This record gives sequence, structure tokens and C-alpha cells, in this order.
Amino acid sequence: MKTIDELLAEGVDGKRVFVRADLNVPLADGRITDDGRIRAVLPTVKALADAGAKVIVASHLGRPKGAPDPAFSLLPAAERLGELLGTPVAFAEDTVGPAAQATVDGLRPGQVAVIENLRFNPGETSKDDGARGEFADRLAALADVYVGDGFGAVHRQHASVYDLPARLPHYAGYLIATEVGVLQKLTDDVKRPYAVVLGGAKVSDKLAVIDQLLGKADRLLIGGGMAYTFLKAKGYEVGISLLQEDQLPAVTEYIERAEKQGVELLLPVDVLVAPAFPDLKEKAPTHPDTVAADAIPADRLGLDIGPETCNLYASKLADAATVFWNGPMGVFEHPDYAEGTKAVAQALVDTPGFTVVGGGDSAAAVRTLGFDESAFGHISTGGGASLEYLEGKTLPGLAALED
Ligand code: 3PG
Repeated sequence: MKTIDELLAEGVDGKRVFVRADLNVPLADGRITDDGRIRAVLPTVKALADAGAKVIVASHLGRPKGAPDPAFSLLPAAERLGELLGTPVAFAEDTVGPAAQATVDGLRPGQVAVIENLRFNPGETSKDDGARGEFADRLAALADVYVGDGFGAVHRQHASVYDLPARLPHYAGYLIATEVGVLQKLTDDVKRPYAVVLGGAKVSDKLAVIDQLLGKADRLLIGGGMAYTFLKAKGYEVGISLLQEDQLPAVTEYIERAEKQGVELLLPVDVLVAPAFPDLKEKAPTHPDTVAADAIPADRLGLDIGPETCNLYASKLADAATVFWNGPMGVFEHPDYAEGTKAVAQALVDTPGFTVVGGGDSAAAVRTLGFDESAFGHISTGGGASLEYLEGKTLPGLAALED
């Protein structure tokens, strides 16, 4: 994989460099609630601009349906990028149309432009190679060089991630190089004990990674909505908690395999329960009860791990040499159910081991709960991407940068 340093050594002055970033940031009422992904691409954008490149930054945002949709405009991200760079950033109101062409034509060396959400064009995500290729051809016409730096999207076989690098000289940006370096530490040469904390809503999203980790990790700590399918598989009553019945056979098999392979599989021993899902807008107090994990009342749902589980999980992370964490422990967006996620984040801060927070909700949780990012070994910008890497899958966006 050629890196951006090689590109800079070759020289980029006056060249049009297409940077595929992942600016897919969370928005609430049109405002960015966590700009971590924008900050993560700054080193690449700055280095290119400082070296005199005409920098074209492109990304997806959300999941629009292949047509322009103002709710998914990249404009707020472009504005924030300009603020963080400390210099105005041009914005093109289309992806490969006249606005993009005029914006790129108007760039002077050292200037930066953002083009509109790539997913406003159906070719970006198409399953049809021809349709993707056609869009990639039009994107390629905008630039001389491609830099892949959208780590959060490298698991997607999309036009700008997979097809476009085949059409231009291509290089990996600083973010991708950092992310891959960290994930290699979790796969090739892991220091033990290796503990993995998995949370989040759906167990089905995590099956493949659990399957892989049962052969690699020493401890697997389960929380979040997915824990209830595990508790049910153990024969416990889970009330009206989130449950994926169809995953029970797989989960039962994992519980058995963990035992056979000597992997410590930890489930919550107590949980916070309430009669209904909390209102995340009003955030009014809900007065949850703490109950043992094998005594969830039939009319209650579990919304966070309980205090005993927080202590148990903290003790299992305290002496870990490596920790990977993906997925919140509860509905952390509501203050009544944030303690479990906070406790895990704090345990990662406290352990002297190497800690990695795997993207998406857990990365946003760490920042919105007020933790200092530098207290963690690495906070990944890729949720799905880092999980698929750990699953051992070939990631299209990395494969495309290889040759
Ligand atoms: C993410 O948020 O994980 C990435 O930006 C990829 O987004 P996607 O799941 O919509 O492809």
C-alpha cells in the first residue's frame, strides 16, 4: 500500500487530489453533535493543502436513497472542516455535475473543496459493477490522484471506495494508515490478557466477530441490548427486553464454545429495568430499578448493566494488556442509563493496557460523556469497518489501495 508520504515526496503541487474521507457525522436538527470524524481527516487534508495540492474532499453522509436530499447534505460537515482548517472551504452542490466541475476548476493550489454527498448519486452504492464504474469514471475525471482516508467506509464496496482508486494513482492517507496499524496490533501480535467488550443493540451485528474472537480473546464481556439474547439463551426470563429469538441457537453455541475453549464469557449479573424505553428528547427521570440478571420482571425491559456488573467488568479490564471495546452498555443517551457505558469507558482509562474504542456509538459515547480522548490508546473512526477487520474479512477499500 503506497502512503501519502510517498505521494508528498513525489510532489502534488497544482495536482487535483481526491480525498475519500468519512465525514458521516451524527447530526441533530442540522447541527453536528460529534465532529470526531472530521478532525480525524485533518492531518491528510492539511498535508496535501500545505504541499500545494488542489484538495477535493468527498464523503457519504447517512443513507439517502440515491438522490439529493437536503436532510443529508454535507454542507454542515464542509463548514466544520473549514472552521477546523482555519480557512474557507469551497462547497459544490452536486457530486459530478456542473457545480463540482466548476468548483474544482476554481481551486488554486493549496485550496480545499468539498463535493456534495456521494450517495446522492445511485451509482455510489449500486450492486451493479457497470453503474458503479460509470459513476467512478465521472469522479475520476475531477482529479489526478486518489487518496483513500475514509476508514469508516472501507468495508463498503462502493464506487468512491472501491472502483475509483482503480482509475487513478492511489495512496493511503494518514488516518487509514493509523487505523490499520492499530488493528494489526489486535490481530497479529496481541498482548495478553486480551479482553473484548461488546455491546450495542443487536447481537446479529456481532455474530461474525464473536465467532472470530472466541479463537483469539481471553475474555469476552457482553453488555447492551445484545446481552438479553445471551441471558435468554442461559434460560433466564428477560421480560420485554430486546431479544433476537432467531439468534438463540447461535448464541447458545457460542456460550458452549467459550466454555470448551477456555474463553471467559461474561454476562451482566444485574441490570437496570423500567416499564418502557426512555424518551431521549425530554430525558425526564425514569426511576429505574436494579434487579439481578436472572430476575427481570416479565413487564420490564433492561436498559443498562447494573452496578455489580460495572464493578465486575472493571475488575476484568484492570489487568488486561489489550482491550477492544465496541458498543455501549446501555441507552447512554439518557442519563439514567449512562452509568454502565461510563464505567466501561472509565475502566479503559484506568487500565495500563493498550485500549481501542471501536468506532460508531462507542466512540461518540466516549466523547459525549466527557472523557478525554487522549486517555485511550486509540479511538477508531470505523464501527462496522473495525469489526469486519477483526472478523478477518477482506475490506474492499483497503484491497483497492493495495496494488
Ligand atoms: C459508518 O458510519 O459506519 C460509516 O460511515 C459507514 O456508513 P454506512 O454503514 O451507512 O455504510
